[in-house]
Amino acid sequence: MIDISISEFLSLPESEKITHIKGQAVLYAQQFDREQLDYLCELSDACRKLRKSKDGADFMATLLSDKTALNFFVQPSSRTFLSFNMAQSILGMRRMSLRDAKISSISKGETLADSIRTFLSYVDMIIMRHSDADAGALAYWIAAKSHRSELVNGKKVPLPIISGGSGTKQHPTQSLLDIYTLEKSLEEVGGIDGKKIMLVGDLKRGRTVRSLSYLMKNYKDVELYFAAPEVYQMEEDILQFCDDNGIKYKKIDSIKEGLEEVDAVYMTRIQDEWDGLGAGAGHVKASDAFTFKKEYLDLMKPHCCLMHPLPKRDEIDVELDYIDDKRIVYWRQERNGMWMRVALIAKLFGVDKDIIARLAETE
Ligand code: NCD
Repeated sequence: MIDISISEFLSLPESEKITHIKGQAVLYAQQFDREQLDYLCELSDACRKLRKSKDGADFMATLLSDKTALNFFVQPSSRTFLSFNMAQSILGMRRMSLRDAKISSISKGETLADSIRTFLSYVDMIIMRHSDADAGALAYWIAAKSHRSELVNGKKVPLPIISGGSGTKQHPTQSLLDIYTLEKSLEEVGGIDGKKIMLVGDLKRGRTVRSLSYLMKNYKDVELYFAAPEVYQMEEDILQFCDDNGIKYKKIDSIKEGLEEVDAVYMTRIQDEWDGLGAGAGHVKASDAFTFKKEYLDLMKPHCCLMHPLPKRDEIDVELDYIDDKRIVYWRQERNGMWMRVALIAKLFGVDKDIIARLAETE
């Protein structure tokens, strides 16, 4: 199902890899267009509503009961791992996980390619979080070469591969749930089009903010405010992408500088696991200008939402965690992630229409 060699495929830029993938794997945020994003948000809402009743939940759990997923997460994860597990469970999938490369055959010297080929002998889908930005592309190529395939809407397609975070570069499903959260939070003021969104923290190595920036190509007149110290500022490739796709942006030197103007603030932690010292070796503190303080709530617009992909550390005042203010959405955001992942998996296996139809019957 793929006619170029692995080395040729891996050497292609993301924009060209996407043309081969044709939506059959989820590896890059740029692969989504507006129509797909709107549909996935609508489908997430439908999944959420349908599962409220016991009857709806039982129905959903039959949809993929003949499928098995492997959650291959060899980098730390709580939310992405758990929400994918829960999403699979909602759809009735069987699940296996591999979370530690040290106790897999990779530690015996097996190549990642051979490991993936092995996984695809047993399971029907792989969700993977890996430090190598190209691991997902490698897995897609192997899936596309495999004699095993899925029949989706009458068409033979490779077994689905979904990135649950690839190196410092991409976290496509996080950006999908971020879009869902933004659309819901900004619903009363016309959604994402025309809005100003501030991204704060480690923009250089934060895969969430990179993926979210890519998705902004789908919305009209969005302006991004990149709030970071120079060492953590957004990388040139994303700035170039913004220029090429009509996404306005400006770099700012503190949260306060843009706070009164923006419609959403997206906080991130310093990604110091990439400093070469290993995870948890020494947490770098967020500097004062990029820490969200409790009194900042008074400066935010009435509809402005405060987001964070989590985990967070000291970049948000802990006092905000239990304040009853509907603008603080980061805990809701993590729950939205589960529904978006249900929607995405349902779509990839072509059972999305069954969910929409069943909901229509019950309403
Ligand atoms: C993010 C990640 O892994 O990139 N976490 C997540 O998936 N929600 C953000 C982070 O680790 O800072």
